[in-house]
Amino acid sequence: MKQEKNRNSFSGSIGFVLAAAGSAVGLGNIWRFPYLAAKDGGGLFLVLYLILALTFGFTLLTTEVAIGRKTKQSPLTAYGKLREKWKFLGVLACLVPMIILPYYCVIGGWVVKYLLAFLTGDGKAAAQDGYFTDFITADVEPMILMLVFMFIVAFIIFRGVNRGIEASSKIIMPILLLLVIGIAVFSLTIQHTDESGVARNGMEGFLIYIIPDLKGLTVKGFFSVLVDAMGQLFFSLSIAMGIMIAYGSYVRDDANLVRSINQIEICDTVVAFLAGVMIIPAVYTFMGREGMAASGPSLMFVSLPKVFDAMGSAGNIVGFLFFAMVLFAALTSAVSVMEAVVSSLMDEFHLTRMKAAIVETIIAVIGGIVVCLGYNHLYFDIVLPNGAHAQILDIMDYISNNCLMPIVAIGTCILIGWITTPRLIIDEVEKTGCRFGRKTLYIIMIRFIAPALLVILLLKSVGLLTVI
Ligand code: ALA
Repeated sequence: MKQEKNRNSFSGSIGFVLAAAGSAVGLGNIWRFPYLAAKDGGGLFLVLYLILALTFGFTLLTTEVAIGRKTKQSPLTAYGKLREKWKFLGVLACLVPMIILPYYCVIGGWVVKYLLAFLTGDGKAAAQDGYFTDFITADVEPMILMLVFMFIVAFIIFRGVNRGIEASSKIIMPILLLLVIGIAVFSLTIQHTDESGVARNGMEGFLIYIIPDLKGLTVKGFFSVLVDAMGQLFFSLSIAMGIMIAYGSYVRDDANLVRSINQIEICDTVVAFLAGVMIIPAVYTFMGREGMAASGPSLMFVSLPKVFDAMGSAGNIVGFLFFAMVLFAALTSAVSVMEAVVSSLMDEFHLTRMKAAIVETIIAVIGGIVVCLGYNHLYFDIVLPNGAHAQILDIMDYISNNCLMPIVAIGTCILIGWITTPRLIIDEVEKTGCRFGRKTLYIIMIRFIAPALLVILLLKSVGLLTVI
């Protein structure tokens, strides 16, 4: 009880919304959303994503924030506080950010590397074949840059909820949004004629991005797009990673949850959409449709530097601004991932924030070193159940993103939908007198539709569902 009273809280709704939106807007928005949109027939993916965000995403986000605020506990302890027997779900929810943080920081280090390359006018070198592979397979540099990124994250966490997480989000998020809008507008205005004389421009790429390509669409294809959109929504909204429970526990009792959750969703979806506007027209203009097939690391660290190089003298500046934007997005997300673990260590073991931050940093540094070694001394290549080739980073991503997160979300739906009943969340949301607009939708989603969709997602992720 004493701990609950002393618990930090965000100073107000704006602080919470910016911190949660900062968590949501991350690498997932920038390197996965545009790729999936391009792969899945543009507009169809966008429409499904939007519908899912307003139903499925809204349901899970509301549930987690409300669990956090009601229990005033971190993910590790919150589920047990609702129902003693469900503590195991908290353990899983805390395991997810513990697995994500090391590899997220390794990628954060890669972003720092490219930011420095463009800052020092070395963008041309970054565009050469082999630059990325040479860098990530090096012995020392990826580890040092991972440590740089991780220590910035740990420093923000160490400063606490108000002076660290909230203060940094209030500075970073407005800059991030400006950069995203500026680069997106720029991307629409570019044009280029390649060596074979074919001229393309950003607006054509934009149309490819937004107009649904339904040619030859089958039921199986439709489900595949649906599952892609749902998987993306998870990572993007920071759901089932314990984060929104931790942040929810810092929300004041008088805050209007409905409004805040709407704002977080809008911000995340708008940035994800704009990430597509930034990337797809630019990649299309300079590399054609073939260039749009790249995803993840190869999109961001191989294709885009080539696009910036092809822009000529403007390329170094655009590249620098782009990687600054990515760094900001990755930082606020990594902070939230670390906070989910740190708050758990504080609540469960009654550690001070400083001790908890040190413990989690040590764990993440060890994990991060192993991830870096996965590209040289510990290199191997295995094929995952979903068919993807994987190194250590991809395996950690697969376990957290494809396996544990759906399991945590299914457990949450069962606990709230059937054990505590949705009334628990509805009462929490409405206790300030605000109207829970999508209440009936919420009940249907949490009890029936969300768990059913999640089971499909889980089975498909682990390769047990091949018919759709
Ligand atoms: N939601 C964060 C991202 O999209 C974790 O990267």
